[in-house]
Amino acid sequence: MQYINIANRGVKFLSPYQAGKPIEELERELGISNIVKLASNENPFGFPESAKKAIFEQLDKLTRYPDANGFELKQTIAKKFGVQPNQITLGNGSNDLLELFAHTFASEGDEIIYSQYAFIVYPLVTKAINAVAKEIPAKNWGHDLQGFLTALSDKTKLIYIANPNNPTGNFLTTQEIEDFLAKVPQNVIVVLDEAYTEFTRSEERVDSFRLLKKYSNLIISRTLSKAYGLAGLRIGYAVSNPEIADLLNRVRQPFNCNSLALTAAVAVMNDDEFVEKVAENNRVEMRRYEEFCQHHQLEYIPSKGNFITIDFKQSAAPIYDALLHEGVIVRPIAGYGMPNHLRISIGLPEENNRFFTALSKVLKLA
Ligand SMILES: Cc1ncc(COP(=O)(O)O)c(C=O)c1O
Repeated sequence: MQYINIANRGVKFLSPYQAGKPIEELERELGISNIVKLASNENPFGFPESAKKAIFEQLDKLTRYPDANGFELKQTIAKKFGVQPNQITLGNGSNDLLELFAHTFASEGDEIIYSQYAFIVYPLVTKAINAVAKEIPAKNWGHDLQGFLTALSDKTKLIYIANPNNPTGNFLTTQEIEDFLAKVPQNVIVVLDEAYTEFTRSEERVDSFRLLKKYSNLIISRTLSKAYGLAGLRIGYAVSNPEIADLLNRVRQPFNCNSLALTAAVAVMNDDEFVEKVAENNRVEMRRYEEFCQHHQLEYIPSKGNFITIDFKQSAAPIYDALLHEGVIVRPIAGYGMPNHLRISIGLPEENNRFFTALSKVLKLA
């Protein structure tokens, strides 16, 4: 029996998501230690102390189901961004939410628009529900929103925009997004995936909550996996108009967010100092990556995220392998159609030094 023949039709066209290589796996494979992982856009400062404390206080309550409505976290998010709790949907990481949007609004044969080189979960979700993918060719590695508008049809249900985008780091301004939203019909849902927004400077950050007041078809998707450092706990949130939130909450699994994630998220969302430290390190260290690339004439895509993508102008696979042997894990992105690029997550200064030294050795840079 070939079970692929009885799987949902869209599943036949899926390949499993390629996650960054875990440190323990490389330790097992090469028998080396002191490994630096710059592969999954995780938070280099580790798990925030504020979240750790909140978790310990929660341990004795783990025999109970989590709060299915995430009351406290919704209150915290609502207060922080000046929205109402009934506009919020919580997810088991924002991947959970990205999937939920498609399940809620699109069916087989409906069209979903996203960009070439955009976050890989968009095609994955689209195929899984047998929707029709409208992948718009990228412009300078980023979203061509004019191309999105041209692709709109009466079958379009959903649009995904990653801002900043992963793996390219491209960024759209508030004006560009607003001009776009003004031209999209209200019956098409626009998902603004802002997984990396905390890494942008406050003066350039997209004012998405203001846009939400004006455009009722907008959903803002955010995560606590990156700047907030909770990737292993899996927690994200979406903010939308209350009617959309109500629909999402009907489809959502009731206990999709676990108690530890909920409690840690409340703590860290009140920990502005931690997030500011993380963003500041990212700014300073990103500059060092840019200078390193410029100095060695390596082409990179300017990034507003916590990662940078370098074009090696040749297959990056051997470079990736050689870096592994130096104990440095970065991210190959051939799966995105970018076989000559590697994506490097910005780490702590000493981790980045390890990368610079390892790459200099591998490429025999002067
Ligand atoms: C653009 C983008 N959106 C969403 C996510 C999902 O993150 P999580 O599921 O950890 O919230 C990622 C993770 O890498 C991402 O790069």
